[in-house]
Amino acid sequence: MIAQRKDDHVQLAVEQQQQHSGRNQFDDVSFVHHALAGIDRPDVRLATSFAGLSWQAPLYINAMTGGSEKTGIINRDLGIAARETGVPIASGSMSAYFKDPDCADTFSVLRKENPDGFVLANVNATASVDRARRAVDLIRADALQIHVNTVQETVMPEGDRSFSSWVPQIEKIAAGVDVPVIVKEVGFGLSRETVRLLESLGVRAADLGGRGGTDFARIENGRRPLGDYAFLHGWGQSTAACLLDAQDAPIPVLASGGVRHPLDVARALALGASGVGVSGTFLRTLLDDGVAALIARISTWLDQLAALLTLLGARTPADLSRCDLLINGELRDFCADRGIDPRPFARRSGGLDVPHEMTGSTR
Ligand SMILES: Cc1cc2nc3c(=O)[nH]c(=O)nc-3n(C[C@H](O)[C@H](O)[C@H](O)COP(=O)(O)O)c2cc1C
Repeated sequence: MIAQRKDDHVQLAVEQQQQHSGRNQFDDVSFVHHALAGIDRPDVRLATSFAGLSWQAPLYINAMTGGSEKTGIINRDLGIAARETGVPIASGSMSAYFKDPDCADTFSVLRKENPDGFVLANVNATASVDRARRAVDLIRADALQIHVNTVQETVMPEGDRSFSSWVPQIEKIAAGVDVPVIVKEVGFGLSRETVRLLESLGVRAADLGGRGGTDFARIENGRRPLGDYAFLHGWGQSTAACLLDAQDAPIPVLASGGVRHPLDVARALALGASGVGVSGTFLRTLLDDGVAALIARISTWLDQLAALLTLLGARTPADLSRCDLLINGELRDFCADRGIDPRPFARRSGGLDVPHEMTGSTR
C-alpha cells in the first residue's frame, strides 16, 4: 500500500512539474541592484551553519522517496548526487520501513552511497520515539526531520483524520532522539505561530516548506477516484511569505517549496533562511535526464549561487541578509495583513551611502 503510494507520488509530482505555470511568490522578491557592490569570487564561501550543524553549502535535497523498489533506485541516485556535490540530503518518510522492514535497503542506500555526507532521516508526527530512533539508526542520520502535513493527510484517501496528538508527540521525539530535530511542512507553509510553538517543543530548526512548487493537495486529489478535493489546490502560504512571517523566529529556519533556480535560493537566504531545500525540480531532472545530469545541475546551481553572492557583495550566505530587497505584489499584501513592514528590507545595506564630505553636501 505505502509502496504504491510512494510510486504514485513520484509520477504525479513529475507530471505536476511539467504542468506548473512557472510563477510563484519568489517572483515578488527582487534585489536592489547596487552596481558597485560586487566583491571577488575567491572571497565567497557557501558554507552555512545553524542549530549546531555545519553544511558545506546552503542547499539540500529535500525529503522524497524510499519504500518501494522504484523509489529505492531513486534514493540510490539521489545519494550519489549528494555525495558528488557535497549537499545534504533527506530521506523520504520512513513509515514504510516500520510497516515492512524488508524495504530497509530502499532507505539505507542513501547512506551506503553517501557514507560521509550529511543525511537526514524522516518520520511523521505520530511516530513513536522508538521508531524515530530506528529511523535515525538505519541511515546513521545526522539529523531527523519530522514532517507535518495535515492538508495532505486530509486529501489522501487513506490519510489520517486525527491530528491532536501531533504536538505532544513532536515534543517526545525531540526529547528522545540523539540528533537535532527539524520539523518540516510539505508545501503548505509554517506560520510564525507554528514556528514559535515548535521552539517550545524542543525542535531545533523549522523547514518552512511553503506553497509554490509541489502541491500535495493536488497530488492526493489526483489519487481520489472523484477528485473531489480540488478546492484545496493551492492551499497555504508561499515559501517567501513564510520567510517574511518568520522574521523574528526563535529558532533557525530553512526554506523549501517552489525553489526553481539559484536566484530563488539567494532570495530565500536573503529573507533569512539558513539553508534551502529542493525536491520536485531535482526529481524531474533525475527522472528525465539521469543522475549525471542531476549532478551537473546541482554543481551549476552552487556555482551560480556563488556568482550571485559575488555580484551582491555577500561573502557568505548569511551576508545576504544585509542586501536590499524589494517586496512587491501579493507578497506585499500578505505583509500588510500580517503586520510586517516590507520597507526596511529595501534599506538594509546602509553601506553604500556616500559620505557627505565626499559629495561636498553641507546638509
Ligand atoms: C515525490 C515526492 C515525495 C515526497 N515525499 C515526502 C516525504 O516522504 N516526506 C516529506 O517530508 N516530504 C516529502 N515530500 C515533500 C518535499 O520534501 C517538499 O516539502 C515539497 O515537495 C515541496 O518542495 P518542492 O516544491 O521543491 O517540491 C515529497 C515530495 C515529492 C516531490
